[in-house]
Amino acid sequence: MAVERTFVAIKPDGVQRGLIGEILGRFERKGFRLVALKQLIPSVEVAEKHYGVHSERPFFPGLVNFITSGPVVAMVWEGEGVIASARKLIGATKPLEAEPGTIRGDLAVNIGRNVIHGSDGPETARFEIGLWFSPTELNDWTPSDQVWRVEE
Ligand code: RTP
Ligand code: MG
Repeated sequence: MAVERTFVAIKPDGVQRGLIGEILGRFERKGFRLVALKQLIPSVEVAEKHYGVHSERPFFPGLVNFITSGPVVAMVWEGEGVIASARKLIGATKPLEAEPGTIRGDLAVNIGRNVIHGSDGPETARFEIGLWFSPTELNDWTPSDQVWRVEE
């Protein structure tokens, strides 16, 4: 399985509810590497580009309003198969359909307040990482305990 990078963001509801540590911990414990991390209040421009595929949907204005309403924690995670794996850790879009054990399954009830975003494929991951981060904000590094995590 190839080493990939994916974009993950804790949405304003996750930040307001004090779930940052809980969510970061799940990605760390899984064994993924944190490549970039920052907190920001997204501009309307970034939010509209990020959710551009949904621009014609009735929920789009509310979604952009919500995502720009307060701080978001934006991250890039790296690891083998991280794009699909992050989506599994996150769980289904509708929190009531998300399996227990997933972030949305454990921590959310409402589709409009589903706590976290994760890129849904390689193209989207590349686009979203470039939208939210400049290249100098991405840190290449090798964890010193790598030998225990990776079968050579
Ligand atoms: P996300 O992009 O935020 O990671 O969520 P997702 O891939 O699981 O779901 P997506 O279909 O991309 O929808 C983006 C976000 O829009 C909101 N939404 N509301 N009211 C509705 O029917 C509705 N449908 C989608 C959700 O907050 C969803 O995460
Ligand atoms: Mg999506």
